[in-house]
Order: sequence, then structure tokens, then C-alpha cells
Amino acid sequence: MTPSNDSTNSRSSVLQNYRALPLGILGRSIAVSGLVLLLFYAFLSKSQDNPFSDSVNLPFHFQWPADSSSTRVHNTTMESPTNISHIGFIVISSLNSWRWRKAYIESWWRPNVTRGYVFMDKEPTQEFLPWPASSPPFQVNADITKLRVFPRIANPLQVRMFHSLLDMYRVGDKDLRWLIMCDDDSVMFVDNLVEVLGKYDHTKYQYIGGISECVKSNADFSFDMGFGGAGYAVSYPFAQAISTKLDDCIERYPYLWVSDHMAQSCFADLGIALSIEKGIHQIDLHGDISGFLSSHPQSPLLTLHHFDTIDPIFPKMDKFEAIRHIMKAAKVDQSRLAQQTICYQRESNWSFSVSWGYSAHIYENIIPRSILRKPLETFRPWEMERSRSILHVQHTVGV
Ligand SMILES: *[C@@H]1O[C@H](CO)[C@@H](O)[C@H](O)[C@H]1NC(C)=O
Ligand SMILES: *[C@@H]1O[C@H](CO)[C@@H](O)[C@H](O)[C@H]1NC(C)=O
Ligand SMILES: *[C@@H]1O[C@H](CO)[C@@H](O)[C@H](O)[C@H]1NC(C)=O
Ligand SMILES: *[C@@H]1O[C@H](CO)[C@@H](O)[C@H](O)[C@H]1NC(C)=O
Repeated sequence: MTPSNDSTNSRSSVLQNYRALPLGILGRSIAVSGLVLLLFYAFLSKSQDNPFSDSVNLPFHFQWPADSSSTRVHNTTMESPTNISHIGFIVISSLNSWRWRKAYIESWWRPNVTRGYVFMDKEPTQEFLPWPASSPPFQVNADITKLRVFPRIANPLQVRMFHSLLDMYRVGDKDLRWLIMCDDDSVMFVDNLVEVLGKYDHTKYQYIGGISECVKSNADFSFDMGFGGAGYAVSYPFAQAISTKLDDCIERYPYLWVSDHMAQSCFADLGIALSIEKGIHQIDLHGDISGFLSSHPQSPLLTLHHFDTIDPIFPKMDKFEAIRHIMKAAKVDQSRLAQQTICYQRESNWSFSVSWGYSAHIYENIIPRSILRKPLETFRPWEMERSRSILHVQHTVGV
């Protein structure tokens, strides 16, 4: 498989062709910013009556839709609680990866209950039809080659992925409060997502996600970027606002290599910052992540990404059996899943660390919480080249 056919494995996790601005440009931008500041000052002094006018806060001309969250008073008591039917999933895939990755998605997808689609690069061929009821229904992404900016796009695959947000919005499904973007090698813990998103005001502009476990991945992009493989959520009104601006964003950032970076840059320009949720996991790690999952914070487990590049999360099982196994615990009580509880048996001086529904560790001495909370380093650090070769092997043996 060539990287260009693969929907997601090159996504977000690594630095690729990241280019720093040459000093010349930097110098020019400082000069330009000076001018812009001066103009802002001139503009501000004229618009005292509207100090929060969008054109003051944003680096380019932009008008929020009239029905913007900043002006709307939200009465939450009027609203029904958020439930599963209010979430629209945008699963990004490709015909090539769907062959084996559909098992990851079907592990959490609930036919006729969860809403949303798998977004494909191409119309499914005969081999995929009839489309199974156990999978999310499919949509084919809009043809981005028609965009005026297309010749300047550095990584069309990633722009297609970003564009799915607009493609989903254009499907026009009703009564959605949230759209969640994720990759086809990610597992969503749906009940927990409903619970956690229910705490946010969906009538405001919201961008909720998680950063990477790997410092370098964050440093390469932004510590304020929701890694889309792990999944990020946008409130419906925000999706609506983005839908009018998404093509402009692509025009502004055609050189960005990764879709999530494009999304984050676009959202930041619109004045919306990331809200981080601890249960969203990019899993920029390799090998055995049991140490990581055994010290999950006391926060609902929301998503796990990169199932293709990690070992099965239970011993003596393949990846798919292991996912089905953790889903059994998830069905009993998803709210506690994997959350770490630490306790002590004073009489015998034992320590217990239990990751609910996943693992239990018993130590025959007293170990402070501060130490037990640190993940056991069963995993290896993230390296892209390595994951590429692992993926290559998997594809050729047809896992
Ligand atoms: C919100 O809606 C409830 C139910 O309709 C109503 O009783 C309450 O007065 C409203 N609150 C505000 C602040 O408008
Ligand atoms: C979710 O809430 C809506 C009201 O917003 C209600 O009509 C619907 O029946 C609820 N669905 C489920 C699955 O609870
Ligand atoms: C989902 O709904 C459709 C149409 O209402 C129905 O034909 C189908 O059997 C349902 N599938 C499942 C798995 O419940
Ligand atoms: C538990 O640890 C304490 C303090 O180190 C020690 O005095 C005590 O003998 C130990 N108890 C057992 C049963 O090992």
C-alpha cells in the first residue's frame, strides 16, 4: 500500500515536512504586523461602540453568522439532556484501509443507534457491497480536485480528511448537537462521550479534543491541537460556522501537511481554542500499552487511537479479540472503565492498583500513590519510521 492510499496512518502523529518560516519572511511579517497594529489602533479608536467586533479580534475579515453564540442567551433548563442521538460521527476511512479497519469501528458502532457515516475516498466497489448493516453507512468525500487552491495543496489526502467536516455538515442530518471526527483505527466509548459532551454547552462554539502523549508530536504542531485520529468534537453551531469558512481555511493553509493542523489553525483564526479532555487518547506510543491503560486518570475513557500500531491490549489475543474483550467491560459500566483506583492493605503492607475492567496490580509492599499513578513504561516511544514499517508488514500479510 502506498501512503497516498492510506487514509489515516500518517495523520497528525508525526512531523512531516514541517517547514519553519524562513527568516526573510519572518522579518517581513514583523514589519507587516507593525503596520497592522497601527491600522488596528486607528480602527479601534473609530469603533469604540463595538470593541468586540470580529474584525478586531481576528487576523482577517470574518463575520460570524448573526445567530452567533456570543450573542445568544442559552437556557439549559429548556433543553433535554444530551443523548446518543445528538452525536454525528465522522469516521474517516478509505476503501483500502476499510477492509481490515472496519472491525475496529464495528466494535463500538451501534446500528440504528449511533449516527454518522464512514467517509470514503471513492465509491465502494462491488467487493464491499451490499454494505453491511453492522457498519456505519458510507458517504463519499467531495472531490477536492475541484477546489481552486488544489494545485497548491501539499497533501491532498489530508485535505480530504479535513474536508469531511464540511461534507458531513452538507449531508444535513437534523437534531445533531455535536460532530465527532475520528479515524478508522479508533475506538470510541460512546456512553462516556455522551456523558462528557453533555457537560458542555453545545449551543456555543466548542472544540474538544486531546493532545498527544508524545511531546514531539505536540511541539511539531501545537499544544492546542486536537489530534483527530483520537477524535475531536465540535459543537453543531461551530460546525455550521466552519462550514462557511472551511474552503477559505484551505486557501490560507494549503502548505500544511496534516489535516488536524489545518483544522486547529483554522479554528484558532476563528478565535476558538481547544478544550482538552483527559479521556481522549491519541496513543502515540508503540508496543504494549498496558502500563498506560493501567494508570488511566479518574476521568471517563473516551477514545483510543492507533490500534494498528500497538500490540493487542490483552495478552494472548489478537487486536480484534482484545477490543471485543474490553467492550464486554464497557457494556457493564463504561463510566468507570480503565480508571485507576489505588488502595492499601495495612495489615500485610500490600498496595493495590486497579484499572477497572482492565487490569489489577498487587504489590507486596506499600508504594505511595504518587508512584503508582505514573504509568509503567511497558510501551516504546513513538517513532514514525517504525510505525511505517510495521504498517507495511501488516498490509502485505493482509492483517
Ligand atoms: C428557562 O426555561 C425554563 C423552562 O421553560 C423557565 O422556567 C425559566 O424561567 C427559563 N430561564 C430563563 C433564565 O429564561
Ligand atoms: C434524545 O433526546 C431527544 C430530545 O432532544 C429525544 O427526542 C430522543 O428520543 C432522545 N433519544 C434517545 C435515544 O434517548
Ligand atoms: C435498522 O433500521 C432499519 C430500518 O428501520 C431496519 O430495517 C434494520 O433491521 C435495523 N437494523 C438493526 C440492526 O436493528
Ligand atoms: C509493615 O511496614 C511497617 C513499616 O515499615 C513495619 O513496621 C511492619 O512490620 C510491616 N508489617 C508487615 C506485616 O510486614
